[in-house]
Amino acid sequence: MSILVAADFTAEEWAEWMPALARAMPDETLLRARGAAPNANDADAFDADAIDIAIVANPPCGALQGLRGLRLIQSLWAGVEKLLDDPSVPAEVPLARMADPAMNEAMAETALWAVLSLQRDHFMYARQQREARWLQHAQRAAGNLTVAVLGLGQMGRAVGLRLARNGYRVIGWSAHRAQLDGIETHAGDAALPAVLGAAQIVVNLLPLTPATRGLFDARRLALMAPGAGLVNLARGAHVVEADLLAALDSGALAHAVLDVFAHEPLPAAHPFWSHPRVTVLPHVAAQTDPRSAAAVAAANVAALRGGKPLRHLVDRARAY
Ligand code: NAP
Ligand code: GLV
Repeated sequence: MSILVAADFTAEEWAEWMPALARAMPDETLLRARGAAPNANDADAFDADAIDIAIVANPPCGALQGLRGLRLIQSLWAGVEKLLDDPSVPAEVPLARMADPAMNEAMAETALWAVLSLQRDHFMYARQQREARWLQHAQRAAGNLTVAVLGLGQMGRAVGLRLARNGYRVIGWSAHRAQLDGIETHAGDAALPAVLGAAQIVVNLLPLTPATRGLFDARRLALMAPGAGLVNLARGAHVVEADLLAALDSGALAHAVLDVFAHEPLPAAHPFWSHPRVTVLPHVAAQTDPRSAAAVAAANVAALRGGKPLRHLVDRARAY
């Protein structure tokens, strides 16, 4: 049996990923999906019935069409909302997300940079430098700031623990109550208003699901503390962009650090690019690293071949 790799990789990314995957699973036959190759000549010819595993990274819709023998879909991305929206992804085949400790640490670094920059007014000083304006702001201590982390999964836990280690008071929110050293945890919809209201900085690390889409709308943004900062490192569709712009324009929120957007790449004319209270990153908070992620995928492939339990399976009823 063979493994189909279906992804929206650039030619450079294919050149990095295929050898990394081959090194991690030397006994497997790896084929590139036709629809996902940069051009048709680069694609492997394959017998659909000989494919029993698909390794996917943001594949084009329909890339898994007609693979009747599939027994595992392994995503190289942590977020799987696009796969769950694709009717060609068979609902009965186990779907595993990427869960890579290296990626979690990369996310923790990005969150720490964003929180520290908000705490110490670095985004404001960068703006002042562009305007040659010398103006000192009162320095805030980490220990006097509460940071709320929404989502305490692979990423949110690493972020919460890193922030707590750096002296912030961290409160966390998830669907089910979590236990995390040094972090005050809350769970469920009823707890969200108090969590949002208690923090000077909110970091979003929720998966995009029907329950979390549009979570940061005008009503929820108004629950945040006056002058709070929002750090969205999860998915753009968690935020109602017009509502966030209104909250920033009115000064209700001080600043937003946004790594993800409703439409990516963020269109050149989008007001986020030039908004003085917005810092834009091009979806780079935690990139999948082929060196470590290929090994994570290979472990699940080996588990399937050996009849062992698969890891990091998506619960389709919960959509994450
Ligand atoms: P995960 O391990 O599945 O964790 C999801 C967390 O969200 C869990 O704590 C879960 O609660 C909580 N949650 C889900 N639905 C909820 C709801 N309705 N109310 C309250 N809490 C809810 O996911 P992850 O690996 O940490 O990744 C999180 C997201 O980060 C991904 O889905 C992806 O969108 C994003 N991401 C972004 C980048 C980037 O570069 N920007 C990179 C990787 C991932 P329970 O624990 O109680 O189930
Ligand atoms: C990146 O955004 C991912 O979901 O892995």
